[in-house]
Amino acid sequence: MELPRHLAVIMDGNGRWAKRRMLPRSAGHRKGMDRMISLSEHAFDLGVEYVTLYALSAENLSRPKEELDGLFALFCKYFGENVERLVSGNIRLRVIGDPALLPPEVVRLAREGEKATEKGTRGTLVLAIGYGARQEILAAVNAAVHGGKELTREEFAALLQTDGIPDPDFLIRTGKEKRLSNFLLWQCAYTELFFSEKLFPAFTNADLDRALADYAGRERRYGKITVSTDGDRSC
Ligand code: FPP
Repeated sequence: MELPRHLAVIMDGNGRWAKRRMLPRSAGHRKGMDRMISLSEHAFDLGVEYVTLYALSAENLSRPKEELDGLFALFCKYFGENVERLVSGNIRLRVIGDPALLPPEVVRLAREGEKATEKGTRGTLVLAIGYGARQEILAAVNAAVHGGKELTREEFAALLQTDGIPDPDFLIRTGKEKRLSNFLLWQCAYTELFFSEKLFPAFTNADLDRALADYAGRERRYGKITVSTDGDRSC
């Protein structure tokens, strides 16, 4: 079965999952973290090379302080408890997003995690925290303008926070909504999209397998025309 080399996931629905169980939103985020760890390990075990997870958008930073503090504490817990596991699994960690939007402790632990895992060669886990695609593109445009010369597509991509990471082949969004929410807008130009009704804490490894089987059945044409056996032309 053909696998995406790079899988991206918009992990939406933690809050609704908790609300349906009369639990605080923080319980949904905690359960989401467990799922995110298991799903990413499952994807790497299958042979996916890059897994990018949207953990917090730049726009999410306008949520109530209590929720944000809980999320920041969860990120710190994640880095504190999982970096060793990434090292022993030979997985490299990259954290993208605007560090200026995050508490210094989160940024420090993220940088330490990146350093500790930098030799990982089996796969790369990319966590987008305080990330916004328009902000990322604008920063790259400003850097390009200061550089004063016309750039190729590859040179421009190298100015983005995802420098060195291939574009996602497959993007899954859980939680019913069908939008990109300022996630990897440049990088997803030809990414195959998959929307699941399931809330992220309820999205199982078997759900991931089903989504990957859907991906395997798709024909990626990148805007070109193919002629199918019955003579239909499509692009
Ligand atoms: C969106 O659901 C989810 C988030 C804003 C947080 C995602 C975080 C995790 C999955 C947990 C930990 C991650 C790491 C990297 C340790 P929502 O809260 O918007 O849900 P709703 O749409 O149902 O309200």
